[in-house]
Amino acid sequence: CGIIGYVGTREVVPILLEGLRRLEYRGYDSAGIAVWNPWNKTTIRVRSEGKIENLVSKVEQVEIRGSVGIGHTRWATHGAPSELNAHPHKAGPFTVVHNGIIENAFDLRKKLEDQGCIFESDTDTEVLVHLANLFWKQGASPGEAIRMCLENIRGTYAVVFLCDVMPDVLFAARKESPLVIGSSEDGTYVASDVPALLPFTNRVVYLEEGDFAVIRRNGFEITDRDGAPVARPLETVDWNPVLAEKGNYRHFMQKEIFEQPRAVSDTIKPYMNFETGKVVLPYATFLEEVFKDVSRIVFTACGTSYHAALVGKYMFESMLRIPCNVELASEFRYRDPILDGKTLVVGISQSGETADTKGAISLARDAGCPTCSIVNVVGSSLARMTDAVIYTHAGPEIGVASTKAFTAQLAALALMVLYASCVRNAGETDLHLRFKEDLLRMPGLMEEILGSHEILQDWAMDIHHALSALYLGRHVLFPIALEGALKLKEISYIHAEGYAAGEMKHGPIALVDENLPVVCLMQHGVIGEKIRSNLQEVEARGGRVFLVADELAAQEAGLESKLSYIFKVPICHDLLSPLLFVLPMQLLAYYVAVERGTDVDQPRNLAKSVTVE
Ligand code: G6P
Repeated sequence: CGIIGYVGTREVVPILLEGLRRLEYRGYDSAGIAVWNPWNKTTIRVRSEGKIENLVSKVEQVEIRGSVGIGHTRWATHGAPSELNAHPHKAGPFTVVHNGIIENAFDLRKKLEDQGCIFESDTDTEVLVHLANLFWKQGASPGEAIRMCLENIRGTYAVVFLCDVMPDVLFAARKESPLVIGSSEDGTYVASDVPALLPFTNRVVYLEEGDFAVIRRNGFEITDRDGAPVARPLETVDWNPVLAEKGNYRHFMQKEIFEQPRAVSDTIKPYMNFETGKVVLPYATFLEEVFKDVSRIVFTACGTSYHAALVGKYMFESMLRIPCNVELASEFRYRDPILDGKTLVVGISQSGETADTKGAISLARDAGCPTCSIVNVVGSSLARMTDAVIYTHAGPEIGVASTKAFTAQLAALALMVLYASCVRNAGETDLHLRFKEDLLRMPGLMEEILGSHEILQDWAMDIHHALSALYLGRHVLFPIALEGALKLKEISYIHAEGYAAGEMKHGPIALVDENLPVVCLMQHGVIGEKIRSNLQEVEARGGRVFLVADELAAQEAGLESKLSYIFKVPICHDLLSPLLFVLPMQLLAYYVAVERGTDVDQPRNLAKSVTVE
């Protein structure tokens, strides 16, 4: 879900709508705004089911003016996506927008209903306004009433309240869900994510866990979880707002796929000292001591970031012989894992706000493990929770299906490997030098692949009617097979499975027939030979093979004449090949989705950042 709020001198409605458009990737089941109308002395709400554009059409029909307001775009957790369940919610003089989950909402609601409160929605959020209203009616000031309300709830939240009896301020608070204040000449903004603020200001203040802020036209005051006034630093964000616009591309996802050479280069460059040839990690100097005697690394993440974590294991184990585990954050956090002070736990996340990944890192911290995060959003919760941070510099990623954030994560993992090699005095071998050289070549090689995107457009024509697809890979390309299948599922709604090619004979081979597209990823060398036999197994059963192979592998296998579908990828260090092989996977999913006419940037039921469990 996404939040935007404003108090200032400008008309608030266009600000709220523009902010919501920038947040739509956060959720798009329903949306709404609430604006204080100083003439009628009341708060007007407009809400609608579905996308922001539905809300915009509704807002156009009612003239709403004012310069204080809040807005929300929702990804449903409690209560179906409907207008009644859309935020903002209102009771008495209080109106609220909320991200997160209130765990004791059911009990609170029962108690409030017993006291005569009438609820209009099925959401957990609505208890917030009834509770605040109750305390206010008992004599508390609006600010106190909101504080008392928050003390009574269990769960996670980022909330912004507007109150009819104090309409020149907004009240904001956070617990495990981000909020950022934006400061500008014309007023003060508040939002769940920086991209929502970028059209208006790049001067921001991140709220910390437990912070409570009173936001005014000409500034704001923050108190910490104990109620003591605190000053949080004003930071200047250097994200270019243009990066959050589509430009000449048809979809954000398409733009983000083609932006990857830049995203990877921007991630690598600031961390490379080109004079010494060494990697410098300014927010991760803590790792120097850790890498000296770490006994194990646990990578933890969700979704696409989990696939980056899987590649990380191959890189670290192969280059440094440090044992690694890769854990789905949602599993890791609840299975009582064995951890100790010599286990480095690395959380990987584009947003830095994924609830499960944060939960996994909290667990690691409590167990006394050193922690590190690889995140794309500066100042995000995960970055703040961990001892060390490596920022990827992919820029804002708007398409719900992750692309450039993924390749930037792979680049960050490679940098981490080089950094650790140096600390452990393993950095000067030929293998490491070649790894480094090839990492620097990545952006150029990626450009080459993107230049051949039309081949995948053709493949899409032959795949888009399929009901199911299989992706096979081995070794470091196994995670890319998983990622390829995930991309196709996410945006084209075709069922797809990624499989370790060697496992095909133990199950999926039963699915193979002339209707099943099988996408095979193949590197040269020993592993490639194994894939070649898997490929023959598919062909022998009439399966349609779509081969993505490095130049040598395709040649070695003498496949060029035999197969109708071959996409060639330049040769590089095998551990870096995922950065290249994933590009045709993304492009294929993209073109298939376009062919099927799905909503590429905002596929059904998904959200960009899942801040609930
Ligand atoms: C959601 C998104 C995925 C993403 C995952 C993890 O499910 O739709 O694209 O990979 O969250 O997000 P994170 O921000 O932690 O990388």
